[in-house]
Amino acid sequence: MDRQAYIENIVDHYENPRNKGRMDDSDVFLGGGNPGCGDLVTVYVKIGDGDRIDAVTFEGDGCTISQAGGSIVTELAKGLTLEEVKALGLPEITEEMGEEIVKSRVRCATLALGTLQAALDRFRRDRERREAGLPPIEVKPFEV
Ligand code: FES
Repeated sequence: MDRQAYIENIVDHYENPRNKGRMDDSDVFLGGGNPGCGDLVTVYVKIGDGDRIDAVTFEGDGCTISQAGGSIVTELAKGLTLEEVKALGLPEITEEMGEEIVKSRVRCATLALGTLQAALDRFRRDRERREAGLPPIEVKPFEV
């Protein structure tokens, strides 16, 4: 894709976000934000057999790139295992957004991915706590 195509892809994800909305029966959710600007993304994940992502949604409020990132990352992650999502990084985001934008706005571009990966870490941690007979650590969603 050339620069214009990357921009059009980002704008399309921003204006027609995929997988946007709160999920009431998620296995795990987590909010992430960029302290510098206050922009937010909350991700909700349902995890199925073989630790595979059955469903993933997001909601948020923020700049075009961070919110397009929510749409892009949820599309990328659906059907992947926890380990495969953990392995996603700048190359996969760059393929969708273009190097120029990712380099100049890396915190915006990676907000959703970092939040999703942290949510999956939380899922694993809570599962280990459950297996050890400990209660999960309570987290409240951001109000957006
Ligand atoms: Fe805040 Fe982009 S300016 S995430």
